[in-house]
Amino acid sequence: MITVRTIEELQSAKQTHSGSIGFVPTMGALHEGHLSLIRKARAENEVVIVSVFVNPTQFLEGEDLDAYPRREEADAKICELAGVDILFMPTIDQMYEPDELSIGAPAKRGYILEGAKRPGHFDGMLQIVMKLLNLTGATRAYFGKKDAQQLALIQQMVRTYFLPVEIVPCEIVRDADGLALSSRNAYLSADERSRALCLSRALKKATDAIMAGERDTRKIQEIMLDALSDADTIEYAVVVDRSFRAVEKLELGNAILLVAAWVGKPRLIDNLWI
Ligand code: PAF
Repeated sequence: MITVRTIEELQSAKQTHSGSIGFVPTMGALHEGHLSLIRKARAENEVVIVSVFVNPTQFLEGEDLDAYPRREEADAKICELAGVDILFMPTIDQMYEPDELSIGAPAKRGYILEGAKRPGHFDGMLQIVMKLLNLTGATRAYFGKKDAQQLALIQQMVRTYFLPVEIVPCEIVRDADGLALSSRNAYLSADERSRALCLSRALKKATDAIMAGERDTRKIQEIMLDALSDADTIEYAVVVDRSFRAVEKLELGNAILLVAAWVGKPRLIDNLWI
């Protein structure tokens, strides 16, 4: 594996390889969830590139940009062991110029749910993903379903701008007790970690009700809100279709249950595609 920090180095490292490129963009602090994306990229491509870049433009004023876990050495070790070919760890000045042209998330799908709670987050996220897809020349890029709205917006960006890349959605990876893996779980104390289980529990309770025949999304949302009572602040518990439109009746095979809540320091999200 070669670790590169500049765009020039990335381009010359790419020249030493040929064949399809599987790309996994990350903000580092790698965990099993990232590893599952890397393994899939490894299995499906000749070349695997991973980026580690804590992207400042997707953090809002007052969010955890400075505190975001940074573990470059451990991340490099994990990538090496997972068979990554090129690890791209750029600095901010490599990725941004002072007076940037920016990309805006679409108003209807980019400014609801996560986009409403974190206005501007998706603009910055799309901007960096566009840059990274162009720089890596990825054949396939791998994204987790945990960030369901992020995934949908990236798929839309690829369609809108005719980007020659296949976006590969990957399943959510959970700890044995159900907690969805996230780099921000590192902020949880022992008590908070056990309370954080209310997110996956909410999804499980909603699924049980759906399996028992419930289709009324208002009732399903109430079940989720109820189950989230261990959280410090609930941000939302909703049922949407796969295009992120609110629906009154859930349709199996075309629904996503989404929850977001604060537990201690981190703001956690989770979801289930049903
Ligand atoms: O999901 C993430 O870790 C980030 O949003 C991404 C896609 C790496 C862009 O910074």
